[in-house]
Amino acid sequence: MSQNPNCDPANGDHDKHRIVLKPPQEGGPFAELLRHRRSTKSYRKTPIDLETLSQLLGTAVGGASATHRPYGSAHARYDIVLTVIAAAVDGLAPAAYRYLPAEHALVNLEEGDHRSRIADGTLDADWLTTCPAMLLLSVDLAAANDAFEAQEAGRGERFCWFEAGLIAQNVYLWAAENTLGTVFLGGLDSVETSTVAWRLVPPSHTMLGILPLGHPAEGAAFES
Ligand SMILES: Cc1cc2nc3c(=O)[nH]c(=O)nc-3n(C[C@H](O)[C@H](O)[C@H](O)COP(=O)(O)O)c2cc1C
Repeated sequence: MSQNPNCDPANGDHDKHRIVLKPPQEGGPFAELLRHRRSTKSYRKTPIDLETLSQLLGTAVGGASATHRPYGSAHARYDIVLTVIAAAVDGLAPAAYRYLPAEHALVNLEEGDHRSRIADGTLDADWLTTCPAMLLLSVDLAAANDAFEAQEAGRGERFCWFEAGLIAQNVYLWAAENTLGTVFLGGLDSVETSTVAWRLVPPSHTMLGILPLGHPAEGAAFES
C-alpha cells in the first residue's frame, strides 16, 4: 500500500534533511478562526434566520462589487452556481432558491422541503434531513472544459473543483466565526444526484458538493 508522504514515520532519509520549524505564534484572529474551523455532521433542528443566511451568502460568496468575488476563479469566470435549499429558515419559505451573487438576491425555483430528496443523492448523509438549510454547488463542466480547451483537455473541469474548494473554505470560515456548522459533502452518488437535483440545479449542471448549514448539535463542533 502506498504511504502518504505527509504521514511517513521518521526514517533515516528524513532525519538527514529535517529542519524543525518554530511552532506558529498563538493567537491572532485568523489563527483563532482556523482553530475553530470544523466539519459538522450533526445539527440541532433550531432554525437559522434569513439575516444569517444573507450575511453568509453576501460575505462568503457574493460581494459589494458586481465584478469581484471573495474567492478566486480561473479567468474570473465564476462558473460555480449556488442553489440554496431552505427548510427551516425563519423569514424564508421552504423552497429551493438560486443565489445571484452580483445582485445578492435569491430566486425561488421550487417550493417545498427538498432535504430528503437531496440526502438521497449522498452516499451516507441521511442526517442532512435535520439541518435547517444547505447550499448546493453545481457547474456546467462541459462549458468550463470548452473555455480552457485551447490550454489542455479537462483543465476547465479541474479549475471548477478548485473554485468549489475556495467557496467551501469561505463558508467554513464564516461558519466558524459565527458559531454555525457546515461541512463539504463531496461523497455524492453521481447518478442518483443528477436525478434528485433535477429542476433544482440548471439542466446542464453537475453537482460538485453540498454545504449544510445549521447550529451544531451539542458536542458536534467548536470544542477547543
Ligand atoms: C473533498 C472533500 C470531500 C468530503 N466529503 C465528505 C462526505 O462525503 N461526507 C462527510 O461526512 N464528510 C466529507 N468531508 C469532510 C471530511 O470528513 C472532513 O473534512 C475531515 O474529516 C476532517 O475534519 P475537519 O474538516 O473537521 O477538519 C469531505 C471533505 C472534503 C475536503
